[in-house]
Amino acid sequence: MNVWVFSLTKKQMTLRLHIRWGLVFFLLSIASANLSAQSQLTEEKRSSLLHLLKQDCGSCHGMRLTGGLGPELTSDTMSKLGAKNIFTVVKYGRPGTAMPPWRAILNDNEIEFIAEQLVVGVEE
Ligand code: HEC
Repeated sequence: MNVWVFSLTKKQMTLRLHIRWGLVFFLLSIASANLSAQSQLTEEKRSSLLHLLKQDCGSCHGMRLTGGLGPELTSDTMSKLGAKNIFTVVKYGRPGTAMPPWRAILNDNEIEFIAEQLVVGVEE
């Protein structure tokens, strides 16, 4: 009788442990997924965003993003501006200037990806 009770509680404990570790891994996977916008976008989406960056952004910032109507978006200047500031400029635009807001066209993930790419450098 005693042995039976013991084995039951041991089984329950193992089950609890499994649930606990399951929760830990679940939370860890959410945390790592949020680390970079890049990992949340499909390869296809990423390449279409890079295309947009060169075509649409490039129409003002220069086809090589080295400046035109808008300032250059080279990794040199973009790393100084920082991904957070780039995100804000791209999402809301710069009111009173020709820089338009992109929030109706791009979601936060996509803007984050573009900001990350600009910091690393996409100019040629
Ligand atoms: C219609 C023209 C136009 C388009 C299209 C455009 N921009 Fe701009 N952008 C500007 C202008 C003009 C400025 C400078 C605003 C100012 O005077 O502060 C600017 C500023 C910026 C800045 C801040 C640069 C700095 O050094 O402060 C970033 C970053 C930027 N644009 C990114 C983008 C991205 C990314 C896209 C495409 C998704 C884009 N822009 C599309 C005109 C444009």
